[in-house]
Amino acid sequence: MSAERVLSGMRPTGSLHLGHYHGVLENWVRLQNDYECLFFVADWHALTTNYDAPQSIAQAGRDMVVDWLAAGLDPEKSIIFQQSQVLQHAELHLLLSMMTPLGWLERVPTYKDQQEKLSHKDLSTYGFLGYPLLQSADILVYDARHVPVGEDQVPHIELTREVARRFNHLYGRTPEFEQEVIAALKKLGPTAKPYKELRQRYQQDGDREVLVQAEAFLAGADGLNTSDKESLWGWLVGSGKAILVEPAALLTKASKMPGLDGQKMSKSYNNTISLREKPDDVVKKLKGMPTDPARVRRTDVGNPKNCPVWQLHEIYSDEAKKQWVTEGCTTAGIGCIDCKNAVAEGIEVVLAPMRARAEALQAEPEKIDRILREGAERARALADQTMSRVRSVMGLTGA
Ligand code: TRP
Ligand code: SF4
Repeated sequence: MSAERVLSGMRPTGSLHLGHYHGVLENWVRLQNDYECLFFVADWHALTTNYDAPQSIAQAGRDMVVDWLAAGLDPEKSIIFQQSQVLQHAELHLLLSMMTPLGWLERVPTYKDQQEKLSHKDLSTYGFLGYPLLQSADILVYDARHVPVGEDQVPHIELTREVARRFNHLYGRTPEFEQEVIAALKKLGPTAKPYKELRQRYQQDGDREVLVQAEAFLAGADGLNTSDKESLWGWLVGSGKAILVEPAALLTKASKMPGLDGQKMSKSYNNTISLREKPDDVVKKLKGMPTDPARVRRTDVGNPKNCPVWQLHEIYSDEAKKQWVTEGCTTAGIGCIDCKNAVAEGIEVVLAPMRARAEALQAEPEKIDRILREGAERARALADQTMSRVRSVMGLTGA
């Protein structure tokens, strides 16, 4: 089991924009240097809301992967794949569905929120209710410890933790587990008795103080190895053996990337600069961007603090350029067009290499196929390790 596995997924939305880059992709690219990472196209998740129009999902997924690679995800470092090519996600989803109370899913805040937001669609479906449980399966099937996600996804990670705990509680108390506990208690010798008492206090009174004491006790129990300690902990809290690993959200801080209208950059606001935007189009789009409303004429002074263009300078410009903007704006020394052209240069520094990589990749569609095929193969091998534990404790080993 890898202690430090990272996993995240994105629904296939087609080509990505600078908001995705600064919010999510930069983070993923950084993580792949420090962790074993898996990143996947959540195409089944796309079907939960787009089951009536599945035709565009495949192409949108490929376009998205082109942008991932253009942004610097490296298939040598990360496992990149399509969810629907790793059937183990679906298998685990099904098995988890057996033991997940309906109320847990109905209470996930995104369920009602999204139904209301997408009220033009009929989302009173089984698949849509199960959206977060499919996500739990995505995570648990790889023993992923860290899940980089935005704030809105935190309830889904919480659900995943609860499902893992319930699963371990139900299926983790196998005969082998009992044997492991007995062996570990034996190693404790005379201190086994106080530990048993701690357990009794916890299980009878739910006294949380006991957990602190038990943790300290196990930390100081020199005769035990890690596995003994895990067994004794599971025995005390009643969770049994950890078959599924509880993940944690690795919160991605919201991107400060403003869109072309000053609101958050988002496809639904139609205010984006895409990762493959041509330089001329960047300039054209910036031209239409609102500025400090006080600067009506070229001779009016402005204040960058009241201007969305300034927020772009904060991301793309160095200190000298920012100094030039502040000075020029507040004295009407520069015009807004000059200011926007200056930010366009900074954006181009980021976009140029991505555009070049994306173009090269689009010329070689077989390369994307190969990356996704090899990614799915590696993912399947990892997922199967978890699934053999799961199948075994659920009595599904076959003949
Ligand atoms: N629900 C996520 C989103 O909308 C996408 C997703 C699906 C995901 N499965 C996942 C994210 C597993 C992290 C881990 O952004
Ligand atoms: Fe905004 Fe720049 Fe114009 Fe000032 S000069 S109002 S910062 S665009």
